[in-house]
Amino acid sequence: MRTIDWKPPETVVIVDQTLLPGSLVLREVRTVDELVEAIRSLRVRGAPALGAAGALGVRLALAQAEREGWDRGRLDAAIARLRTARPTAVNLAWGVDQVVPHLDAGVAEVEGVALDVVRRDVEACHAIGERGADLLSSWHDGPLVVHTHCNAGALACVEWGTALGVVRSLHRRGRLRSVMVDETRPLLQGARLTAWELAHEHIPYELVVDAAAAGIIASGAVDAVVVGADRIAANGDVANKVGTYGLALAAARHGVPFVVAAPESTIDASVPDGTAIPIEQRSAEEVVRFRDEPTAPDGSPVRNPAFDVTPAALVTAIVTEERVLHPGPEPCATNR
Ligand code: MRU
Repeated sequence: MRTIDWKPPETVVIVDQTLLPGSLVLREVRTVDELVEAIRSLRVRGAPALGAAGALGVRLALAQAEREGWDRGRLDAAIARLRTARPTAVNLAWGVDQVVPHLDAGVAEVEGVALDVVRRDVEACHAIGERGADLLSSWHDGPLVVHTHCNAGALACVEWGTALGVVRSLHRRGRLRSVMVDETRPLLQGARLTAWELAHEHIPYELVVDAAAAGIIASGAVDAVVVGADRIAANGDVANKVGTYGLALAAARHGVPFVVAAPESTIDASVPDGTAIPIEQRSAEEVVRFRDEPTAPDGSPVRNPAFDVTPAALVTAIVTEERVLHPGPEPCATNR
């Protein structure tokens, strides 16, 4: 089953991630407004999955334009709304931009290009998984404990995952001891999604509250931190789910390698460094309420950045489907 896919003749199908881990529900999306809502509400989320949503969304927009008799201006406006539905993961705009140049070539070509984006994401994730597993295995003998944050798994991509792609490859090779999974406040992508994926595949894991991560790393229990990314600047600064920077600081302090697993499409060469990456600020409701339960006094002032930027100097390696980049220091052979 894919997290996001195209269902001919004119529907995008997504796993509704807001309902996990309680229910696994596939949602059929037939309009651009529905897709924009699904992206903003995190029904579909994770940078590579947003890339696929951008590409398939252009195909969807074309179908809706034909069905409803839109002129070109209305089609362009719908695509622009889709392209900017969330600001931090560059993959969304990238996915849209892969398909838009083909709009005048007709439906068949648009659909072919969009499906190619989906196919390439699957291939990229498998390549990242294998390359990441090679790299970690070259640094460390024996089975590894990998610490991860948020969800960079199958649910964040079309399938397989980036950081969890590395985890899956290690597991297949018998080189994984277990995964330390940060809960990932406020929306619990680690607890709800990453733990769900790992449990489903019987991959050993322990769920930890975010505040425990630094202490666990300090205790020597972790061999490597592996996370995904929403946007990587030209200098190697990495934007990812809020809390990633803290993990990187703890990893650096304790000599644990900090690895970013992401497709080439997450690298934004137009952004010189992390200060230029737009950081999505999300609603206070996510912090003062969980589902319908209040978690803070009514009216509490809240700051809720959804992402943070880890400076390149703290990043041991960036693993893509094509290469390994070393923006920060090379790790020592063993870090335990
Ligand atoms: O707000 P989200 O859930 O979309 O944030 C997702 C992340 O930060 C992921 O770590 C990132 O997109 C990489 S997914 C392979």
